[in-house]
Amino acid sequence: MKQITLDYTQTCTIIPQKLAQTQFLLNKEIDRIIAAQSQDYKTDYASINLAYDRTLLETVKNLAAEKLKLNPDILIVVGIGGSNLGTAAIIQALYGVLYNERSPLKIYFADTVDPDYIHEIVHITNAALAAGKTILLNVISKSGTTTETIANFKLFCDILKKHHSNNYKNYVVITTDENSDLHKCAQTEHIYCLIIPAKVGGRYSIFSAVGLFPLALANIDITQLCTGAQTALSLCTQKDDSNNVAATSAAIMYLLYKKGYTIHNSFFFSVALENLGKWYRQLMAESIGKKYDNNNSVVHNGILPTVSIGSTDLHSVAQLYLSGPYNIFTTFISVENHDHDSASFSTIMNAILEGTMRTYKNDNRPFVLIKTPEKTAYYLGQFMQIKMCEIMYLGFLMNVNPFDQPQVELYKKEVRKILEKKD
Ligand code: PA5
Repeated sequence: MKQITLDYTQTCTIIPQKLAQTQFLLNKEIDRIIAAQSQDYKTDYASINLAYDRTLLETVKNLAAEKLKLNPDILIVVGIGGSNLGTAAIIQALYGVLYNERSPLKIYFADTVDPDYIHEIVHITNAALAAGKTILLNVISKSGTTTETIANFKLFCDILKKHHSNNYKNYVVITTDENSDLHKCAQTEHIYCLIIPAKVGGRYSIFSAVGLFPLALANIDITQLCTGAQTALSLCTQKDDSNNVAATSAAIMYLLYKKGYTIHNSFFFSVALENLGKWYRQLMAESIGKKYDNNNSVVHNGILPTVSIGSTDLHSVAQLYLSGPYNIFTTFISVENHDHDSASFSTIMNAILEGTMRTYKNDNRPFVLIKTPEKTAYYLGQFMQIKMCEIMYLGFLMNVNPFDQPQVELYKKEVRKILEKKD
């Protein structure tokens, strides 16, 4: 099986000796991750063990098989941020931008309280139920208290209750932390509940039931997804090895950050990978954007993650990338073999990518290239595990905690105060 690769030597603008020194610093963190592999879900690195959890995989597969017996037509995923971005990324990557035209199950993500958008999903839901179709609801919230998610949970449950007054709960699955308010509600209402291990943070939860259950319902090969993640983890824990894409990429990002490169652009040359870019955007922003470092000093640390799609966005932002301040570090991501290429467009696409990279290089704009052999569940599993390890390594180098998000919690509390009129 081929691996995801990283090309960087000629284009990252970091001298090899400096890079090697920084990669060496990461050995300590690699040792921690290796140690965490035998500590189940007890450490901050808990997420790295999800892809090996056979009980989790079986539980999710069995529950999905049971719910698929209801012959669902539509799945509504209620969740936001770490609770839905990974699933949305994989669905779009594997079924394409027009995924609801291709997926065996239509999927809608209720990840906002934008009245107009939610109205559209409500309209689709009501029409489908009136036509005798079946709707499943997967409500996902680690904390079990996120305002948007709880509002949508109530809204869609009420709709289901109207149509299935006796057994609406058969059509609902909750995914949350043990003992959260949502877990307690599931127990009271006798709704099936999948548990997220306490130490697995939202943005690291794609290989938990958060991602695996809706993906299994959508007929995505979650075993292959987890196998890809396992392969990636074994490469990500190799010391002083250029095949360790996560450590090498983190070291380059760190060294460039020190030189003033405070923006990181993920430039995907695949339209279907835009949501993957959004998943990574959250992962980097919440993990690395920190007011305090691990010594409690105010640092205001952070790299702004942006997402671009090739070749489309060359026609909107390339002028800035190639002429503006030298503060953007770019990771190009290309898919080597496309599923369909009836018009031989991959030759044109590759020429555009190659030409773009040449232009960057000629102007000494730092970049690396990640190549994924194909767009499959296996390689998505690899990519996502590599990126989660990369961010853990970057957090270590920057001396910030990549697992918390105190400022997100602050605004959530303020919102609750306003809504409960306690201000
Ligand atoms: O990564 C995180 O922790 C956050 O972005 C959460 O995923 C997001 O706020 C949703 O939280 P919850 O899953 O608790 O509803």
